[in-house]
Amino acid sequence: MSDEIFPVPDKWAETAKINEAEYHERYARSLTDPDGFWNAESQRIDWIHPYETLKDVSYDEADFRIGWFLGGKLNICANALDRHLEERGDTPAIIWEPDDPETQARTLTYRDLHARVCKFANVLTVNGVGKGDRVTIYLPMIPEAAIAMLACARIGAVHSVVFAGFSPDALAGRIEDCQSNIVITADEGLRGGKPVPLKANVDAALEKVEVGRVIVYRHTGADVDFNPVRDVWWDDAIEVAAPLCEPETMDAEDPLFILYTSGSTGKPKGVLHTTGGYAVWASMTHEYVFDYRPGQIYWCAADVGWVTGHSYVVYGPLINGATQVMFEGVPNYPDHSRFWQVVDKHKVEIFYAAPTALRALMREGDEWVTKTDRSSLRLLGSVGEPINPEAWDWYHRVVGERRCPIVDTWWQTETGAAMITPLPGATALKPGSASKPMFGVQPALVDPEKGTLLDGATAGALVITDSWPGQMRTVYGDHDRFFQTYFSQYPGYYFTGDGARRDEDGYYWITGRIDDVINVSGHRMGTAEVESALVEHPLVSEAAVVGMPHEVKGQGIYAYVTTNAGTDDNDELRKELVQWVRKEIGPIATPDVLQFAPGLPKTRSGKIMRRILRKIAENDMSNLGDTSTLADPSVVDDLVANRPQ
Ligand code: WT7
Repeated sequence: MSDEIFPVPDKWAETAKINEAEYHERYARSLTDPDGFWNAESQRIDWIHPYETLKDVSYDEADFRIGWFLGGKLNICANALDRHLEERGDTPAIIWEPDDPETQARTLTYRDLHARVCKFANVLTVNGVGKGDRVTIYLPMIPEAAIAMLACARIGAVHSVVFAGFSPDALAGRIEDCQSNIVITADEGLRGGKPVPLKANVDAALEKVEVGRVIVYRHTGADVDFNPVRDVWWDDAIEVAAPLCEPETMDAEDPLFILYTSGSTGKPKGVLHTTGGYAVWASMTHEYVFDYRPGQIYWCAADVGWVTGHSYVVYGPLINGATQVMFEGVPNYPDHSRFWQVVDKHKVEIFYAAPTALRALMREGDEWVTKTDRSSLRLLGSVGEPINPEAWDWYHRVVGERRCPIVDTWWQTETGAAMITPLPGATALKPGSASKPMFGVQPALVDPEKGTLLDGATAGALVITDSWPGQMRTVYGDHDRFFQTYFSQYPGYYFTGDGARRDEDGYYWITGRIDDVINVSGHRMGTAEVESALVEHPLVSEAAVVGMPHEVKGQGIYAYVTTNAGTDDNDELRKELVQWVRKEIGPIATPDVLQFAPGLPKTRSGKIMRRILRKIAENDMSNLGDTSTLADPSVVDDLVANRPQ
């Protein structure tokens, strides 16, 4: 199945913005004439002042720096809203589809959105937020999330969106790390008919860290605690807010947002993106990857709490004047047809989602899909994790009725937007392959041990050899960590953390993380984070966490836990520990398997041999490899014998 190649449909080759010949020509130009290429692409943005220097980048530790469009001045919010008003002020920007299909959908035109953003920007200012200040946003998938983000961008404040599924502890850590003095939240979120206690979570977080102000949007109308000194209702503040707000003039390299993401070590990193390069990059990739033209109905099903929501719900589509569906709910509520009912209801043409959702729906049978119409669909997208050929085939054959190309977009929080991806009018598709690099992106494979560049059809560690405009600029508050994490392993290159294979046609096949990061349902989880949550439990002395194959999630979380001497390792404690991790980090970190381990396999120098733990988690006992260097090889026998089935 995976050997099959799907050529570009004639109609796409003829009408798409980029056909195959154009792809090759522009890709070559982006590398041989970056000044000419990026000068042309930068015109998609309205600059207050044009840039003077395209790029100033060094990956050397001594003079490490990354900058693009230097000297350029712009406001990204004005690019997303103000400049559309004349031509498409009355065109829907966001069509909000609520969790409950019985609730009325809301449509916000560009004019509506602009008016709300201006007012909310003034609310922020009145509440003491200024240029460069960090604003924490902890909101569900409602238009107010986009409004809050754009309002920050308008006045030059730096937003830090925290996914509404994260726990109070995780929220507190993120507020503390970026020293934000304000949180924007809602009374509750709503997902699959179940309320999410956002305000209560904020209150709990603020027992650990202090902020001066909390702005609360009334979404479900639930009764929530309200601290009259600290808390402000969104609606009350809007009511008295001035309607006009001039967009702040921002430097191309002024920070736009921080988004926390898990790495292989320590606590989550605050990935920082800046303004000019990100604006060009999000807009350009959105236009070419989805072949987007204003008027088309586009739907990216990602949450704004992740980078996909930043680049492909908020900034990319709005800069491009798109009309998009924003969905509050989940794929299986009220039933497994929900995605496709939303497609039909709003006549969605372009649909972009994560493989985990597709796999979950695929298991429920084709009828949930086939009983819907879906004739509006023209293009499908996939993001967040490798899409297995079975899910690809199902997406293509059942959802898209073989009519819709699938763009399997590989990228990362760090890369800002799509890096390796098919273009629908240019790239023949190979199921499971993210295919070819975006303009300006130079992927390469290196030998994981030696760091040498590998040629031709081969596999290795995926690096990017030069900078691109949407590259992250630093880890907030820790520039050295930025260098050490991404540029120290393979000097001169950005290391992605992923492994990949390149075939004879130059197509890239991402094989997954090769560091200690697991990809659970398209979301990144650091094994170290889950481990540190576990060892915080008073009965746990040590923990080791690895990924395991999971039919729906892609990867699941397998935790090995050593308890304090004398502890009774029973099922009740197992459940308690699983709940503990959920509470500490959030439901996405819930261990799928928790095995009590009287001992962990360690080398004589005390290093845990994760390779062995991964094999046991994969139930691949015949490949445990050499265990003779272990301090105590018998612990492996115990783990194998007691692996929960
Ligand atoms: C990691 C980045 C892309 C934005 C959402 C996730 C994996 C992402 C693909 C893909 C194979 C993929 C990688 C990457 N990944 N897209 N199309 N095929 N793997 O962003 O949370 O920063 O995670 O997701 O392993 O490193 P993120």
